[in-house]
Amino acid sequence: MHRRLPTQNRTGWASNQLNEVSELFVAHCRLVTRPVLDIGAAFGLASLAAIEAGATVYANDLDPAHLAQIPPAENLILLPGRFPHDLHFPENSLDAVHASNIFHFLTGPQLARGLKSIAHWLAPGGKLFVQAATPWQKPFEAFIPVFESRRAAGVEWPGWIEKTADYSTHRKLGQIPSSIHLLDDKTLLTAAETAGLTVEESTLYRRRDLPRSLFHDGRECTSLLAKK
Ligand SMILES: C[S@@+](CC[C@H](N)C(=O)[O-])C[C@H]1O[C@@H](n2cnc3c(N)ncnc32)[C@H](O)[C@@H]1O
Repeated sequence: MHRRLPTQNRTGWASNQLNEVSELFVAHCRLVTRPVLDIGAAFGLASLAAIEAGATVYANDLDPAHLAQIPPAENLILLPGRFPHDLHFPENSLDAVHASNIFHFLTGPQLARGLKSIAHWLAPGGKLFVQAATPWQKPFEAFIPVFESRRAAGVEWPGWIEKTADYSTHRKLGQIPSSIHLLDDKTLLTAAETAGLTVEESTLYRRRDLPRSLFHDGRECTSLLAKK
């Protein structure tokens, strides 16, 4: 059954069902020879599936208490710390990076720096799998016109909300940080290309595990698949 597990550091909820992007990451893990990185791994759903598929996985999370709940597994390396600045890997050392429902917690400059690091860490042919929240979610309805006018004006990070309470009255607002960075396909595509990655696909969609209370118009989520 689909259930959401609240994070312990008020960074939203972790899913107990792989979303479409995480599933592609796991499928890619059947082909890898170098380790892979799961950023914002939380309780390890995608990390454990990637290990099951044959990969050695670095599971990163800001909250060590989340990582401590992942059952120990061979080929699982826990890496507590804040992406991007606490993570360091040699150039060309990873075959895949997975970031599901974590990039919307980064500021624009953090995201730009993080994508540059990912481009450095990935081996040639290595892949990046991203899933993130967009402004087209019911609780942020009031922000959509602001986002759209910023985007039309060419603002670099149009989805940055300094104070979520200014736009949303969602009853569970306390479970997300007071600032958030809602992303879209175009912003992610530009940021990934600027970092030197080749974008294979960037879309707007509704992930299969999205709670009904967030439903708006089918564009609630964004995905990015990119390659070095
Ligand atoms: C909404 S949960 C997503 C969990 C899982 N990846 C999923 O898709 O269900 C976000 C996770 O990212 C972690 N997180 C937030 N900001 C982070 C950062 N800058 N670096 C590493 N982890 C971060 C949180 O601690 C939390 O466990």
